[in-house]
Amino acid sequence: MHDILPEDARWYLHVRSRMQETIEGHGFGRIDTPLLEDEQVFTKGVGAATDIIEKELYTLRTKGGDKLALRPEGTAPIVRAYLQHGMKTLTQPVRLYYDGQMFRHERPQKGRYRQMWQMGIEILGEKDAVSDAEAILVTMNALKEAGLKNLSLQINSIGSRESRLGYVKALKNFLRKRHGELAPADKKRLTSNPLRVLDSKDERTQRALSDAPEILDYLNESDRIHLRSVLEYLEELDIPYLVNPRLVRGLDYYSRTVFEVWPEPQEGETLSAQAALAAGGRYDDLFRLLGSKAIGAVGSAIGIDRVVTALKEQEPDFITYEAPQIFLAQLGEQAKKKALPLYDELRSAGYSIRGSFGRSSIKSQLRIADKVGAPYVIILGQKEVADNTVIIRSMKRGTQNTVKRDVLIRELGRRMKRRQKAKKKK
Ligand code: HAM
Repeated sequence: MHDILPEDARWYLHVRSRMQETIEGHGFGRIDTPLLEDEQVFTKGVGAATDIIEKELYTLRTKGGDKLALRPEGTAPIVRAYLQHGMKTLTQPVRLYYDGQMFRHERPQKGRYRQMWQMGIEILGEKDAVSDAEAILVTMNALKEAGLKNLSLQINSIGSRESRLGYVKALKNFLRKRHGELAPADKKRLTSNPLRVLDSKDERTQRALSDAPEILDYLNESDRIHLRSVLEYLEELDIPYLVNPRLVRGLDYYSRTVFEVWPEPQEGETLSAQAALAAGGRYDDLFRLLGSKAIGAVGSAIGIDRVVTALKEQEPDFITYEAPQIFLAQLGEQAKKKALPLYDELRSAGYSIRGSFGRSSIKSQLRIADKVGAPYVIILGQKEVADNTVIIRSMKRGTQNTVKRDVLIRELGRRMKRRQKAKKKK
């Protein structure tokens, strides 16, 4: 698992706050579920034969013998919470969003981390196709508001359980005939999770799949109508999409609509060199898997780490360094004592401020002020403490003025205004 250092953390904070604002603006309420859940929430919900559960789940046993798991995703815990807190009795659909870390024991590489950040939205208690389009719209808007351009939406329907049964049978028959051409891992999937063979990354398997049956030909009438409606809503919204009949997703709880949002490949890039920024779909069956009757629900999760990487590539200057407005320097024992209260007062007055209170040399403090780019340094020495004054030094001009302590905030306000005006003129 990796650290996010301050330089990167600024990008994360920007992305997360813009996305939160957008999602809340669409009427979603925040939910925070625990990082740990009963393991069964995931084994039953996400599916025992998925990579996420089979290979990537971090599990632990408590001293009391409970089997817990670090959450690998947010949807199953939200359905658990919806059922546990009787949210069925609220006005439907219930719109929830979350923003937090998920854990998957994957081989770490670019865009694939063991601890990652997701922001997700869920619309619970609505079967109508209009909710699928709403979930896609909100996902796309959140990505755009974070600053991303050139997004591409892939969509598919994996049908309801009835349609899928017929399709899986046909796919298995087809794959059995091609058994010798499949990669070893896909041979195993053929029995454990045949749909997943479709999005195998292995070239041999992909070649063998070239004339495989397509799920869209196996959808029943109501699944077909559902997909058509979602696409019609997207057209009304002017959201371009690509129907990708191979898109199946790696979690068992989906039915009907599934989708992924990818960065549009740049020149010379292949799609497989990138990774989906966000993904989601309809999961009416998840409620059944967690012990309730089926309830309509659809949602998506955005991979914040991947969004930050894509944004840095697309717009490297998007987030610029903000220098503090003031650096506070002190000289001598008395001044050092008075420096922290002044630091507190200036921050309360709304200034961004820095200091290096453990240092005693004024030269080294001015060097730091220069390095962090503060336009003004306030110097507090023995004499200033005794006279109830401070020195304001303009770093650009190298000039220094002594001002009375009680007019300092007013004087700073005046200078900052002048500085802003000069900046605007430039
Ligand atoms: P997911 O496809 O597993 O779906 O993850 C959603 C997004 O999280 C991915 O598209 C990717 O951007 C990001 N992501 C996944 N794994 C990693 C990783 N190891 N490192 C970095 N980023 C990653 C879900 O989690 C579903 N719960 C989405 C959903 C919500 N479906 C319905 N509602």
